[in-house]
Amino acid sequence: MTIPSPPTAVHFDTALHLEPALHLDDVRKVYPMGDAEVVALASANLTVGSDEMVALVGPSGSGKTTLCSIAGGILSATAGRITVGGQDITGFSDKELTSFRQESVGFVFQAVNLVPFLTARENLIVVDELGRRTGAPARERADQLLEELGLADRAKNLPSQLSGGQRQRVAIGRALMNEPDLVLFDEPTSALDTELGEQVMELIRSEMKSRGTAAIVVTHDERITHFCDRSVHIIDGHLDA
Ligand SMILES: Nc1ncnc2c1ncn2[C@@H]1O[C@H](COP(=O)(O)OP(=O)(O)OP(=O)(O)O)[C@@H](O)[C@H]1O
Ligand SMILES: [Mg+2]
Repeated sequence: MTIPSPPTAVHFDTALHLEPALHLDDVRKVYPMGDAEVVALASANLTVGSDEMVALVGPSGSGKTTLCSIAGGILSATAGRITVGGQDITGFSDKELTSFRQESVGFVFQAVNLVPFLTARENLIVVDELGRRTGAPARERADQLLEELGLADRAKNLPSQLSGGQRQRVAIGRALMNEPDLVLFDEPTSALDTELGEQVMELIRSEMKSRGTAAIVVTHDERITHFCDRSVHIIDGHLDA
């Protein structure tokens, strides 16, 4: 009797899906400062699962923004290896990094940097105009996201005509436009009061979990960490992971 061979194709698909969203391997970042140097990341090792939400917690100046900037291909590392969604971006050229940023990562910063003269809807569409989708598909995607984020009736408002929480929701929508592998939130709630901050975190969590998208959420605030799957602490460029 022959035993049927295991369904290797299925296993292969599963393995692909489980590719970590982020893998930092001995990543080091040194900023030159005149004659001296600042070691912003000492030797960072971190793996974020394909649908995992990780809180990155640490004091001011500990290297959180540096880590996010390197993971998002905004900043190059001094040493080490960076893999995002299975792509090794370590040796990417500027051009390759530009398309990587457009296609594979989303950013939400503390100071919501929406384009002031574009409406909420246009702030989402502009992402896709830079990326792969244009015209009607971009508009449909923007409208679908605005609806999900509870902003359908604010689509035509300029950022100055939105509340702080609404602006942050537009920024979240913008980060999700291109269906990224990884979304980097750098203190997304620090400009909001506690209640609004918790609402925004709940929204971030449900958006990430319903899409199976990975995220790093930078915060000083331990309360915010409860919305994440686990916390990683950073002090003086050293991660505890
Ligand atoms: N462009 C730069 N040139 C020189 N040093 C820098 C530069 N950017 C950051 N640093 C230094 O690197 C260290 C880490 O900075 P980083 O911005 O990553 O900290 P952070 O944890 O995000 O802090 P915060 O919570 O205040 O935003 C700090 O000591 C900072 O002064
Ligand atoms: Mg920072």
